[in-house]
Amino acid sequence: MMNSAQIGTEITGLLVEKSQEFSYKELSIATNKFSMSNKIGEGGFGEVFYAELRGQKAAIKKMRMKASKEFCAELKVLTRVHHLNLVGLIGYCVEGFLFLVYEYIDNGNLSQNLRDSERESLTWSTRMQIALDSARALEYIHEHTVHGYIHRDIKSENILLDKRFRAKVTDFGLSKLADVENSTSSNKIVQGTFGYMPPEYARGGVAPSPKIDVYAFGVVLYELISAKQAVIRDGPEVKGLVALFDEVFDHETNPTEALKNLVDPRLGDNYSVDSVCNIAKLAKACTMKDPQLRPSMRSVVVALTTLTSTTEDWNVSSFFENPAFVNLMSGK
Ligand SMILES: Nc1ncnc2c1ncn2[C@@H]1O[C@H](COP(=O)(O)OP(=O)(O)OP(=O)(O)O)[C@@H](O)[C@H]1O
Ligand SMILES: [Mg+2]
Repeated sequence: MMNSAQIGTEITGLLVEKSQEFSYKELSIATNKFSMSNKIGEGGFGEVFYAELRGQKAAIKKMRMKASKEFCAELKVLTRVHHLNLVGLIGYCVEGFLFLVYEYIDNGNLSQNLRDSERESLTWSTRMQIALDSARALEYIHEHTVHGYIHRDIKSENILLDKRFRAKVTDFGLSKLADVENSTSSNKIVQGTFGYMPPEYARGGVAPSPKIDVYAFGVVLYELISAKQAVIRDGPEVKGLVALFDEVFDHETNPTEALKNLVDPRLGDNYSVDSVCNIAKLAKACTMKDPQLRPSMRSVVVALTTLTSTTEDWNVSSFFENPAFVNLMSGK
């Protein structure tokens, strides 16, 4: 028989999912005193270190900013958001600076996997799966979280690949933390990354909407096709990947041939031209200038699910007669 105290604990355990707070000492030990040999990378918010923490592999983000009260409240919410395609935030530490503790993802980020010549090239079907995984993560945060989050920093560096090359989106919620921080300090943080920012947002003065993420996701699709960076520097000329693909769509004589010229050479002939065309069309819809013409992430997931589940001899024309996709392409 359970006594009332036991029942009380059980109920507390069920209702209050406790997020883990770590001490600085524990994180320091787990990272070899934040040694350079444990450093995995560095981004806009701070440095990332590999750690072995309580028998688990972890990635610790040492943030440049200090934690405010609002910041901590938001963090507690973030540790409770779970999805297969989101990198899990295990916990945090607020001693001195702020440290975020994430589950460790083994195979690096998508940018490295597309462009690092020492890594094996990703197959076309793996790339399609990565697109679908990332789209599902975004659909989840837009539509199924209490707050209706917007990521605001979708890019290939923030898409990590696990042991099986399945994608997990990371750094979700950080822009919101930065907002909270901005409102309480003069330490402004520039958000978004050049090349992924939609025109309306880059101009400023527009309230963020989920269509910001849809645009950035379209750029990631173009990266999956071409393995090119979101911003291409050709001598003094700087060009966005979106502009490069827009030229393909505007090609007067042979847009398909122009598109084939942009396909990542490391794919060789191991891809279906139809499939690449369809992904490019989806990317085009996602990167429309007018945010209202961009599909929602939910529609993108529907389109990608259809595209990834069809066989090689599947007839493309039947796809375009599919009202869901016609609506998607016209932004409804
Ligand atoms: N959970 C993790 N598991 C494994 N590696 C990670 C993890 N989180 C981050 N990394 C690695 O550390 C690198 C640096 O991450 P960080 O988020 O600081 O920078 P970024 O993604 O390049 O830019 P931004 O600050 O805009 O997100 C990542 O690109 C990734 O390769
Ligand atoms: Mg990042």
